[in-house]
Amino acid sequence: MLTVARKAAELIKKHRNDSIEIISHMDADGVCAAAVISKALDRNNVEHHAKFVRMLYREVVEELEPTDLTIFTDLGSSQLQNVRDKFSGHDVIIADHHEPERTEGWRELVHLNAHQFGLDGMQEISGAGMTYFIVRELDQANRDLSGLAIVGALGDIQNAWGKLLGYNRQIAQDSIDSKVLEQKIDLMLYGRHTRPIFKALESFTDPPIPGVSNSAPGCVSLLKDLDIPFKSDGGWRRPVDLTDVEKRRLATELIARAYKNVPEELVQYVPGLIIGEAHTLLKENKRSMLRGADEFSTCINSTARHEQPLIGLEVAKGDRGTYYRAMLNLLRYHRRCIAEGMEFIEQSGLERGRRGYLQYFDATGEIKETFIGTIAGLAIGHRTCDPYKPVVGIIREGGAAKISARGSKLLFLKGLDMGRAIRDAARSVGGEGGGHAVACGAQVDENRIPEFLLKLEDRVIDQLG
Ligand code: C5P
Ligand code: ZN
Repeated sequence: MLTVARKAAELIKKHRNDSIEIISHMDADGVCAAAVISKALDRNNVEHHAKFVRMLYREVVEELEPTDLTIFTDLGSSQLQNVRDKFSGHDVIIADHHEPERTEGWRELVHLNAHQFGLDGMQEISGAGMTYFIVRELDQANRDLSGLAIVGALGDIQNAWGKLLGYNRQIAQDSIDSKVLEQKIDLMLYGRHTRPIFKALESFTDPPIPGVSNSAPGCVSLLKDLDIPFKSDGGWRRPVDLTDVEKRRLATELIARAYKNVPEELVQYVPGLIIGEAHTLLKENKRSMLRGADEFSTCINSTARHEQPLIGLEVAKGDRGTYYRAMLNLLRYHRRCIAEGMEFIEQSGLERGRRGYLQYFDATGEIKETFIGTIAGLAIGHRTCDPYKPVVGIIREGGAAKISARGSKLLFLKGLDMGRAIRDAARSVGGEGGGHAVACGAQVDENRIPEFLLKLEDRVIDQLG
């Protein structure tokens, strides 16, 4: 893999005075990947532009123009034929971790794809990680960009096992060695650096914990019972302020409660979801949204979801001024959209699949197409939802249905790969789909939605035995 990364680095050096364009995936990992390469190019005073797209469908590729060198990050491999039709004869680098189409005979292409080197692109390296290997070959001083590769990996939920796997661990080690990252076993609470402890507990829903998940009063009384103060010096204590003894007390109680609630065959996975590796970006301010690598990833994700990835790009590259403020505004808007989306779920509830293994909602005209995935993910934690069944969100538009599906980490650990299930189900009704084991999507003909849901449900049942 390093040989190909070196080849890519050489090609970049060859084009240092030419026009270079980065084309990246419009999601958190894609924005981090673009930031990794863009920052490395800046450091070498190499001019370039960046552009973001959701998919390289034929009509999308048609709109792109080859430059002297085009660098695709976090996409390209799985729509290689489309890219080739437009870009053959031009110098192209692809750094991707999605499953590739075949590539024989495209001479100008430098293709750095996880799968070609026997890596599990879904779990052990992200698009930002693949890009990181190129910039490390450009200059070893770029090792500090490994922190962004970890943020990208978290954006693609590559820590579902409570820890990073394979190459992601190597990248994290580079990051630790560069003093950019700290990796520590901790409670898996979201908002470790920014939210009051009881808030972080309340939003913990995977696995569901009775009297804690979605229950602010429950969290308050739990903390009282465990003799864990909420405040210090007049301010809320955050999860990061807990002492080791308090963390242990809390973890023991959370695990004990979850055990009582979770179906027996899933009990073994509970501790790994409550305690795991937490990643802290040491150069960020202590109470900042960017301090926790997982929250950093949410910030970048919100810019991509609202189609402002260039804001995310600048923040990922280090801007803490204008773009950072714009990102905070976007984050506020993001939270408003979430509240509205969850209000819709509250009002309309979820429909059940015919065999009882799926839950779905149709939010056409209610929720933005780019936002349906976020709401499907949060719906799993909602009180009206069965947390042991995947959730599917649907938006119909112009005859097509845009589908997002989410499964809990608990189901993933039990063996459910929703990405595979949705890809097969979509193909069987003439659509296309794919994605990650816990977060995936598809596009199918509007008239075939019921058939698609049945096929998807069948596959879920097959996989879960
Ligand atoms: O849009 P959403 O957030 O639900 O997408 C989740 C994942 O599913 C993304 O990684 C995306 O690449 C993948 N997806 C896909 N094919 C689609 C839609 C989404 O592979 N048609
Ligand atoms: Zn990715």
